[in-house]
Amino acid sequence: MRNSYVLQTDNLTRAYRMGKDEVTALCDVSLQIMPGEFVAIMGPSGSGKSTLLNLLGGLDTPTRGEVLLNGQPLAGLKENESAALRRHTLGFIFQGYDLFPVLTALENVMFPLLVAGVPMQERLERAQSLLAKVGLSDKTQHFPDELSGGQQQRVGIARALASHPLVLLADEPTGNLDSATASEILNLLMALVEDEGLTLVMVTHDPDSARRAHRILRLKDGHLEREKVQHD
Ligand SMILES: Nc1ncnc2c1ncn2[C@@H]1O[C@H](COP(=O)(O)OP(=O)(O)OP(=O)(O)O)[C@@H](O)[C@H]1O
Ligand SMILES: [Mg+2]
Repeated sequence: MRNSYVLQTDNLTRAYRMGKDEVTALCDVSLQIMPGEFVAIMGPSGSGKSTLLNLLGGLDTPTRGEVLLNGQPLAGLKENESAALRRHTLGFIFQGYDLFPVLTALENVMFPLLVAGVPMQERLERAQSLLAKVGLSDKTQHFPDELSGGQQQRVGIARALASHPLVLLADEPTGNLDSATASEILNLLMALVEDEGLTLVMVTHDPDSARRAHRILRLKDGHLEREKVQHD
C-alpha cells in the first residue's frame, strides 16, 4: 500500500571517499514529509544540508538507506524512469539561480518544457503565465545579467514550477539576496505552499526564514537532531 508521505527517507547515509579517509556527509537520516508541508533544513556549514537535499531529489545516490518519493523507492527505478519521475514531481531552486546566461528570462523558463517535449505554443504560454505569477511579465525578454538578484531568483522559481512539481527543493534560495528581497522571495514561495498545496523543502541559514516553516529539521555533523515540538 502507498503511504501518504510525499518524501520519506530511511537511514539515509552518504559517505565520500577522500584518499584513504571516508567522510560521512550524512548518517542514518530518517524523515517523513507530508504533502503541503513547508520544512526548513538548518545546520552549520558542512553539516550535510545540501547532501540531504540532493539525495531527496535523486541528484545523488546514497551509500546506504533509501529515499521514497510518493511511496516509491528512487533506487528501484531505472535511470530514465527516475529522471521522468523527478521531472514530473520535483522542482529545484538553487542559491546561484543557475540560469542560462545566453537565454532570456522567457527562454530560461521554456527550457525544461522543451526538454519535456511540450509543443512550442504551449511552452510559450506556460512560460509567460509562470513569469506573470512571479511578477515578471515586463521582464520576459531580459537576459539574466539585465535582472537583479531577486528577479533572477524569480525566474529560477518560475522555471522550477514549469513542470507542475509537487515538491520544491530549495538550497538557500535567498542566500545571495538582501533581507528585503529575501523576504519577498520567501513570501512568494510560501504563497505557493498555501495557495497551491506545494511541498517546500528549503535549506536556510536564516533563523527568521526558518521560523516561517511548519517544521525545522536540524542537521549536525550529518546527523538529524531530534525534533523539538514547536509551541507558538
Ligand atoms: N563531492 C564531495 N566529495 C567529498 N566530500 C564532500 C563532497 N560533497 C560534500 N562533501 C562533504 O560532506 C559534508 C557535507 O557537505 P554539504 O555540502 O552537504 O554541507 P552543507 O550543510 O550544505 O554546508 P553549507 O552550509 O556550507 O552549504 C562536508 O564535510 C563536505 O566537505
Ligand atoms: Mg550547502
